[in-house]
Amino acid sequence: MGFRHVPVLPTEIQRFLDLHPGDICVDATIGGAGHAKGICRSIFPDGSFIGLDRDREAIDHARQALAPYTSMVRLFNDNFVNLPRILAGLDIDGVDAMVVDLGISLHQIRQSGRGFSFQADEPLDMRMNAGADLTAADLVNRLSEKELSGIFRQYGEERWAIRIARAIGAARQKAPIEKSRQLSEIVSGAIPKSRQPRRIHPATRVFMALRIAVNRELDCLAEFLSFGPGLLKTGGRLCMIAFHSLEDRMIKRRFNALAKGCTCPPDFPICACGQKPMVRLLTRKVVRPGQAEITANPMARSAKLRALIRL
Ligand SMILES: C[S@@+](CC[C@H](N)C(=O)[O-])C[C@H]1O[C@@H](n2cnc3c(N)ncnc32)[C@H](O)[C@@H]1O
Repeated sequence: MGFRHVPVLPTEIQRFLDLHPGDICVDATIGGAGHAKGICRSIFPDGSFIGLDRDREAIDHARQALAPYTSMVRLFNDNFVNLPRILAGLDIDGVDAMVVDLGISLHQIRQSGRGFSFQADEPLDMRMNAGADLTAADLVNRLSEKELSGIFRQYGEERWAIRIARAIGAARQKAPIEKSRQLSEIVSGAIPKSRQPRRIHPATRVFMALRIAVNRELDCLAEFLSFGPGLLKTGGRLCMIAFHSLEDRMIKRRFNALAKGCTCPPDFPICACGQKPMVRLLTRKVVRPGQAEITANPMARSAKLRALIRL
């Protein structure tokens, strides 16, 4: 079975990155290598492409998918929070273009066997990096009901968080919760039938929340935002795609702050901090996929793209 993932907003990514042969580019979340192939094609033959993914299966696939460009490709099975160290190790002190496409690949949901989907019956793992410490089963079986409901509410915006956490608490007293279907049934059973969401599976939000918690996705994003734009050369471009409103809010705030520069309180008559804008926004408003893309690739429906250029 091939590695399945359809890149989101590929045309827009190419447009905002504005690539040229010879550019140095980073794809920090290579996934199915869809964006990566477009990038490599544009910077061939003398560009330099650095691809990262914390999931080894994505890196193994990318090695094959990018075989025509081997001479200019370097791949790392690593977390993008380690990008500064990786670039320093390659003697690269600035990049022309960088893409970060957050979230999860279709391969991880459908083919990885790691319990990301509420539709399959798989071990409740959810680690993108199989070497990481805690699995989703560890969280579900060990955290208090209060901690679990906090995760479901904060990361999943799940309004039935307390009921679901209580149902988990009751179920795990009888036997540990070890499979994705088991959890999916507990969650569905905890939400009154008449109040279950119509357009998504009742367990969607809980599964997303657990995945975010297991992989510390918001912490990684916050860390990346603190250094990422600083890795660009002058004129270098960064595109970020988020699938979660919390992530998009973090990106928006950081991009806006960097584009503003000045950190003086709004009631200061003149700037006293002297901080100048570091970037210019290429997307004044967030860019979303059109209906045709969503119909062809339903995973794209919640994607939000923001882009900037380093001054
Ligand atoms: C939406 S997919 C990327 C798809 C890719 N842009 C493409 O065109 O095929 C997200 C990927 O990011 C990876 N990922 C998520 N968080 C990461 C992190 N902190 N560091 C490195 N990779 C990460 C996931 O393992 C997954 O493969």
